[in-house]
Amino acid sequence: MQASFTESQKETIHRLFRSRRDVRQGFTGEEIPKETLEKILLAAHHAPSVGFMQPWNFIVLEDLEKRKKIHSLFQAAKKNERQHISAEKQELYDSLKLEGILESSINICVTCDRSRHGETGLGRSQQSNMDLFSTVCAVQNMWLAARAEDIGIGWVSIISAEALAKELNLPEYVEVVAYLCVGPVESFFEEPELEQLGWQERLDIQELIYFETWGQK
Ligand SMILES: Cc1cc2nc3c(=O)[nH]c(=O)nc-3n(C[C@H](O)[C@H](O)[C@H](O)COP(=O)(O)O)c2cc1C
Repeated sequence: MQASFTESQKETIHRLFRSRRDVRQGFTGEEIPKETLEKILLAAHHAPSVGFMQPWNFIVLEDLEKRKKIHSLFQAAKKNERQHISAEKQELYDSLKLEGILESSINICVTCDRSRHGETGLGRSQQSNMDLFSTVCAVQNMWLAARAEDIGIGWVSIISAEALAKELNLPEYVEVVAYLCVGPVESFFEEPELEQLGWQERLDIQELIYFETWGQK
C-alpha cells in the first residue's frame, strides 16, 4: 500500500504545478548532470499510457550542427506561421522568443511508436490517438520533474513534424510528439511569458467548469 502525502508534501506538489514554466530564454548552456537527466527521463517513463503501452522514445540531441539544421526548420515554420497572425498582433509576435534550440544544453525529441505492441492495443479500438495522448503525459512528467531540478524545458511546436521526422530518421510508424529545449536556466518566470507580454490572459477556471452537460454552470 502506498503512503498518503503529508500536508507539506501536498503543498510542495501544488507549488510545482504552479511554478512549472515553458522556458525559451535564460538558458545557461551548462551541462545537465547525468543523474539529473536520468531522473527526468525516468519520470517521463512513469507516465500513464493506454494499455500500459509506453509508446514513447526520447532522442537526445547534443550535436550543434544538427541543432542548427533543426533551428532553420523552426525559422521557416515561424515565417509561415506569421502569415496567419492577425495584423494587430504581428509586431508582438515578431518580438516573442519562441524557442531555445541552440542556447539550451540539449534538445530532446519525444516520439510515439504507434505500432508498439501491435496495431491497436487495449483502449485504442475507439480512440486511436490514445497512444499520442499517453506520450503527451510523459512530456508533462518530464516538464514537472525538470522544474523540480531547476532545469528549464521549452516545447517547440513551430516546426514541421514531417521535416523533423526526416531529419531524425524516424521510421514511418513513429511520430514526433514534442521537440524540447532542455537545460539549466538563470531563473523561472512567475507567470507564463505570453501572459506577461499581453498575448493571452489566464482564463477564469470557474468559466471552464460545466456540470452534467456542455455549457451548464
Ligand atoms: C503542445 C505545446 C506546444 C507549445 N509550443 C510552443 C512553441 O512552439 N513555442 C513557444 O514559445 N512555446 C510553446 N509552448 C509553450 C506555451 O506557450 C506555454 O506553455 C504557455 O504560454 C503557458 O506558459 P507556461 O508553460 O510557462 O505556464 C507550447 C506548449 C504546449 C503545451
